[in-house]
Amino acid sequence: MRYHDIDWDEMWRQSRANKSWKKKKSCDWDRRAASFAERNLDSPFVAQFLAHLQIEPEWTVLDVGSGPGTLAIPISGQVRHVTALDYSAAMLAELNKGAQAAGRDNITTVQASWTDDWQALGLARHEVAIASRSLSVEDLRGALQKLNAWAGKAVYVVDRVGAGPFDPDLFAAIGRNFEPGPDYIFTLNILYTLGIHAKVDFLTLESSRTYPSREEALQSYRWMVDDLTSKEEERLTAYVDARLSRDNTGAWQLIRQTPPRWALIWWRTDGV
Ligand SMILES: C[S@@+](CC[C@H](N)C(=O)[O-])C[C@H]1O[C@@H](n2cnc3c(N)ncnc32)[C@H](O)[C@@H]1O
Repeated sequence: MRYHDIDWDEMWRQSRANKSWKKKKSCDWDRRAASFAERNLDSPFVAQFLAHLQIEPEWTVLDVGSGPGTLAIPISGQVRHVTALDYSAAMLAELNKGAQAAGRDNITTVQASWTDDWQALGLARHEVAIASRSLSVEDLRGALQKLNAWAGKAVYVVDRVGAGPFDPDLFAAIGRNFEPGPDYIFTLNILYTLGIHAKVDFLTLESSRTYPSREEALQSYRWMVDDLTSKEEERLTAYVDARLSRDNTGAWQLIRQTPPRWALIWWRTDGV
């Protein structure tokens, strides 16, 4: 067998077809926007990502699947302008709220999808294009080509390593098989087939996570499992309760065995 005979795109599609979780729709993200914003706007993930980002003050940045501005808001303090694109109106509303609170007026939000015609939307080429934890697309190769075409200097992609944000022990606890689907290694190899030799760094988040209430912790775990049965709901609740404790500020802390891991894949588009 030769490396060049491997059809990474087809393997990615097959692996994706077998994953245990369903692709979320924009209305699913709308429902999650407020809690996602609350937990992510000051997440240690941001500092880890920013430590790798090479940007210049006069550059512009396109953030695809920006969510509530996890990265768009802090980055806007370091560059001339940020365009935040997301198909969830509620996520963009959270972003606008966060930008206002941070006193940033150099972020434009665009409610659009990966698959929309960005040219027709008048989306200009930026120096840097980012897609962080937002690569849930039907055509990964096409999405990567799109990012590459929209970035004059560099592209940064954050993709899952193995289970990514999912907690595999939860699936074992509720008695479900868990198939995470394709992770960053497919992305890296698809890029290679496009002639793009990307760099990879790994971002590991903490095993413990804080929630304002027990219900929010439960909600965040329910998000991982589609079509929960009442028996599974009982097991999920028992799993979460067994790992939750209240810290001295009254917040709820949940400790899991496997911390979420992400791959930061990045490359220059200008040959530097
Ligand atoms: C996990 S959040 C990531 C947000 C942010 N980039 C971060 O790293 O915290 C995924 C975001 O991608 C958006 N998204 C998912 N699929 C999308 C699509 N097809 N087009 C546009 N946005 C999409 C969702 O609405 C959501 O805001």
